[in-house]
Amino acid sequence: MIYSGESLFISKADNGVAHLVFDRKSESVNKFDRLAVDEFTAALNKLEDEPGVTGLILGSAKGVFVVGADIGEFTAVFKEPDDKIAGYLRPHSDNLRRLEKFDYPVVAAINGFALGGGLEVCLACDVRVASELAGVGLPETGLGIIPGWGGTARMPRVVGVQTSLEWITSGRQQNAQAALDAGVVDFLVPADELMAKAGAVMVDCQSGALDYKAARAKKETTAAEIVAEANSIGEEWTANIAGKYGAHFPAQGFAAQSVLQGLEKTLDEALVIERQCFVDAAKTDQAKALVGNFLSDQYLMKCAKDRARTIAAPATCAGVLGAGIMGGGIAYQSALTGTPAIMKDIAQEGLDLGMGEASKLLSRLVKKGRMTEEKKAAVLASITPTLEYDKGFKKVDVLVEAVVENIKVKHAVLTDVESRMNPSAIICSNTSTLPITDLAEPLARPGQFCGMHFFNPVHAMPLVEIIRGAKTSEGTINRAVAYALSLKKKPVIVNDCPGFLVNRLLFAYFAGFMQLVYAGADYEVIDKAMEKWGWPMGPAYLADVVGLDTMQHCDDVLGAAYVSRLKKEFKSWYQVVIDMGGLGQKNGNGFYNYSIVDGRPSKAVNDGVKARVTELAKPSKVFTETVIVERLMIPMAIEMAFALEENIVASPQEGDVALLYGVGFPPFRGGIARWMDAIGLKIFCDMADKYTDELGPLYEVTARQREMAANAETYYGS
Ligand SMILES: NC(=O)c1ccc[n+]([C@@H]2O[C@H](COP(=O)([O-])OP(=O)(O)OC[C@H]3O[C@@H](n4cnc5c(N)ncnc54)[C@H](O)[C@@H]3O)[C@@H](O)[C@H]2O)c1
Repeated sequence: MIYSGESLFISKADNGVAHLVFDRKSESVNKFDRLAVDEFTAALNKLEDEPGVTGLILGSAKGVFVVGADIGEFTAVFKEPDDKIAGYLRPHSDNLRRLEKFDYPVVAAINGFALGGGLEVCLACDVRVASELAGVGLPETGLGIIPGWGGTARMPRVVGVQTSLEWITSGRQQNAQAALDAGVVDFLVPADELMAKAGAVMVDCQSGALDYKAARAKKETTAAEIVAEANSIGEEWTANIAGKYGAHFPAQGFAAQSVLQGLEKTLDEALVIERQCFVDAAKTDQAKALVGNFLSDQYLMKCAKDRARTIAAPATCAGVLGAGIMGGGIAYQSALTGTPAIMKDIAQEGLDLGMGEASKLLSRLVKKGRMTEEKKAAVLASITPTLEYDKGFKKVDVLVEAVVENIKVKHAVLTDVESRMNPSAIICSNTSTLPITDLAEPLARPGQFCGMHFFNPVHAMPLVEIIRGAKTSEGTINRAVAYALSLKKKPVIVNDCPGFLVNRLLFAYFAGFMQLVYAGADYEVIDKAMEKWGWPMGPAYLADVVGLDTMQHCDDVLGAAYVSRLKKEFKSWYQVVIDMGGLGQKNGNGFYNYSIVDGRPSKAVNDGVKARVTELAKPSKVFTETVIVERLMIPMAIEMAFALEENIVASPQEGDVALLYGVGFPPFRGGIARWMDAIGLKIFCDMADKYTDELGPLYEVTARQREMAANAETYYGS
């Protein structure tokens, strides 16, 4: 053994070929945290002192190769001055450079994921052999940064500019075949032949049959044709990236700058340019937010998995009541992810609709080549549609109720189904507005009842709110969390309150929208301003997509619950449109008109609605984009403060993630609590105070927020 550490070891075979094996003890994956980088340095020192080495093969003893840097270390590093951030990159960057200076061949044997730093180490090797199970990519731009261990400097020298810019700016993970096609890896073999092939490649390199020195030289000085490629496409790419990602995602621009500027330099000079671009990206608020999102997601999933581990057994059969938009979606998702579902409705048309939707979604997967016809048939067969309770409800471990939003109907349905189920089963309601504690009232086992609030469309929306009623047991919450995980969803646990977390925050934002339109603002202008701020759609458009009847119902419920903040003195704009026959996108008529033009969905402002709104609102007035953003975002931010102070949600991390996954909050802003932190609580309070005289309690910050402002505290504590 030449070296043995916590993260990797190096051994030497009889033929003199050294094997550096990544194998992080007591962790499921390999990563380049500070410990692994220090060990890599120490291991190379030992290797350099070792006599008789004739080659080096890098591999992994885990299911993955190396998944990248330790993102958990970024937050602290990115707060450091520029030279310290560059200093964080330097040791490993130097390590990879050392691989290119050994006087023997260096081969990477990529068995699984080689992402970020994991792929960068492979790019520093002379030859890359991949298993069919490998997955590679440089996902850094998704975190608001760029590859910093040579990815932007080496990749274009190996595969050219176009591929590098595509891979690096999209951050997309690629499968082994795509990597071979692009030239990122040189050989592709079945998993069980990987090490034999790496050994054979090593022999070819040693014999000269494979010119590894040419591959190495290609990286030192860029080939003329690659410089020519950069000259021909570089400018257009730079312009396209600016247009596509804009100011909200600056990392893509920094990545392209690093790729293009480094090409005409030596590799060492290109690495210096890369480090500077990395530093520039790391200092942005976007990097802070995107890295924060990643860590919050990890935190959320760890909490969820810890809970799921406590349950005796996973659900083997699900029940779904109501085969409508939501029930059909839940049954589909359950069947797709391996838990058969019995789906009951009172109307055959409901069942037909639910099964039809499931079939349509599965056919789409088949068409995309992501599922076979046999698998589709098997998934469909694992949904049992029924109008009766005789289809095995005794077998159901977890039931989700998704019938009409009416407390009397839900009470009747829930008590009925409870009496027909195994006493150990849990029951969840997908209600969007009814308090879980009230719904549990007539149940014999209220401890085994909770909310499980899915978002529409169920198959596409990652969030599920798990709602704890006054009598819900922790065991029930844990089982609902486990079921949500099995459905491949992100469960956020919240305490019961009207609107739960996400709708409560969303309707505070919409209350700001309502008031602003009443004050004379043009809703189309508001939509444009909010989309520019980063929302996937502005509030009027979003209301149309949700459905104006649904919006009105939620607005009524939340207006009655949070009277001082959310109740209006004027008729809601949803009701105004409903009165004109508009339900939003679903009937093609809302704040906008929806139609199909040249086979594509098209949206145009609804002149009739706009005229009616103008007539009912105060005289038209122009508001700046800043005022528009403040008037909509401040109420949402204050509502988050209430939700945290009332312990509706346990942490800003969970609250922010819920908004990201539930309503598409702009990811580069990292959530509403992080937005307040980015502004600073003192400035936030001053900003809100400007509006309270005119607009009242919707803009009144909490006492705790004033205290936080006075003490210079933040939600994230940093
Ligand atoms: N649509 C959404 O965007 C959305 C989002 C989140 C939550 N929700 C909630 O999900 C629930 C269902 O909403 P939806 O949009 O799917 O409604 P929907 O009208 O599409 O479907 C309701 C289904 O329930 C059936 N039903 C009525 N009474 C029943 C009974 N006694 N037993 C069995 N089935 C019965 C109806 O026949 C219908 O098929 C509601 O509580 C709603 O608030 C809806």
